[in-house]
Amino acid sequence: MFGRKSGAGAVKSAEALRLVNVTKSYGMSENAVKALDDVSLSLASGSFTAVMGPSGSGKSTLLQCAAGLDRADEGMVLVDGERMSGATEAQLTRFRRDRIGFIFQQYNLLPTLDVVQNTTLPLKLAGRRIDRARAERILGQVGLGDRLHHRPDTLSGGQRQRIAVARALVTDPSVIFADEPTGALDTRSARDVLSLLQETVRFHGATVVMVTHDPVAASYADSVIFLADGKLAGQMTAPTADAVAERLAHLGDPDHDTTPHHTDHHGVPEYANPYESGYRSDESSTNDYRFDDYSVLRMGA
Ligand SMILES: Nc1ncnc2c1ncn2[C@@H]1O[C@H](COP(=O)(O)OP(=O)(O)O)[C@@H](O)[C@H]1O
Ligand SMILES: [Mg+2]
Repeated sequence: MFGRKSGAGAVKSAEALRLVNVTKSYGMSENAVKALDDVSLSLASGSFTAVMGPSGSGKSTLLQCAAGLDRADEGMVLVDGERMSGATEAQLTRFRRDRIGFIFQQYNLLPTLDVVQNTTLPLKLAGRRIDRARAERILGQVGLGDRLHHRPDTLSGGQRQRIAVARALVTDPSVIFADEPTGALDTRSARDVLSLLQETVRFHGATVVMVTHDPVAASYADSVIFLADGKLAGQMTAPTADAVAERLAHLGDPDHDTTPHHTDHHGVPEYANPYESGYRSDESSTNDYRFDDYSVLRMGA
């Protein structure tokens, strides 16, 4: 369905995302909640990772800090080997526009724009050239080739989320973050969107990080990262829905292996690219950000 990536885009490193000792608290002093507590991880380019954990375990905060929508209090975030945190607000906005794609639970499409216009909006906001032919090709790849000039409200939930996938792909980002992307969909549409995300990784070379509370959704990913109380609480490669559900049920048990399988010389867990090693809603989030909010307030700045 997707062609292999040509060499047209920016050069991407083997490691798409790295978090080093990322800590984030909300609130003041004795009432402070440590939403993320010293989280370090590394995700290979071309990987599909699910982030799971109980409500309040820090999933959305992890995604927002990693995506540059929020700032970590401590630690650093690197995308494609380049440091993101620590930059000025304007630099952070530019960085995010160039390197990050988003898919939200509620699609966050603009109702007055048609399918093509919604898809190309991130390019427009970034002041980049709008290559309509390319946008239409991507829309064809996500199965919307015959809906190019429809408004979102004339389309199903699954089709709307396909627009959001196309919109995330159009800037050729280093990492696509998705927070409960199937949370508003029926089972069948959810499966379609999850398969589509898989295809964008396998055939388009995208890197996807997806927060989900659904073990079936997580089983579409190459690996799962578990969070509990703001800390990494384990990792699973080649997940099945049953194994994920089982692990979730026992998160926090002292006898469970919570150590990553490999650490590099910084002690950062290495989550390998599964293609190299030969195998192949929740709690509505407390941090609901809307595409139009962030696009105007953050991307458009
Ligand atoms: N804006 C905020 N203000 C105060 N506390 C917050 C805020 N966002 C998240 N939290 C708290 O941080 C913790 C982690 O939240 P979150 O990242 O949304 O978890 P999850 O997505 O796993 O449900 C929770 O205790 C939550 O109540
Ligand atoms: Mg959440």
